[in-house]
Amino acid sequence: MEDRFIKLVRLAVQAVSLVLAVCALMTIGLIYFQVFYQPSHFEFGETKQLGVVTSIDDVKDGVHLPTGLKVDVNFELVVTNCTGCHSAKLITQNRANADGWSNIITWMQETQNLWDLGEDKSLIVDYLSKNYAPEQQSRRKPLANVEWYELED
Ligand code: HEC
Repeated sequence: MEDRFIKLVRLAVQAVSLVLAVCALMTIGLIYFQVFYQPSHFEFGETKQLGVVTSIDDVKDGVHLPTGLKVDVNFELVVTNCTGCHSAKLITQNRANADGWSNIITWMQETQNLWDLGEDKSLIVDYLSKNYAPEQQSRRKPLANVEWYELED
């Protein structure tokens, strides 16, 4: 009887140590992961091509639904370089000509850690100044060639 009890206790102790050992291993693993794992996306100071996954479902009426950007030449460059820090809404809500866009980009490079875009800069400015140009005259043109008629009493 005594013997069986001791065996049981020994078994329980073994089981508890096993659980503790597993916990310890997981903790070490977690710490290791925290210390050594660094996501490589969006490192400042270099341009990363993340590869924009665009499926047909993502595009409606020429607009890329996840970002709201118009799909056009060099669209992917813009998604890759311009949506990492802030929403693409900052882009779609702004209007500027090529100089204006170039200045905005320079401002971000000088003050907001935007990386050097190299040759991509002019391609990006092309896209932006084409698709997000200053609004055209928003008022309709005056009517022309209207055939007026006399109001009769
Ligand atoms: C490294 C981070 C970063 C990247 C990448 C980045 N921006 Fe920005 N951008 C910012 C910050 C920070 C602001 C200021 C946001 C705020 O005011 O809330 C900003 C603001 C803006 C604005 C608003 C400017 C204004 O006058 O209010 C526009 C437009 C813009 N960014 C366009 C772009 C475009 C186009 C690109 C790609 C070439 C880009 N951003 C990439 C950090 C970035």
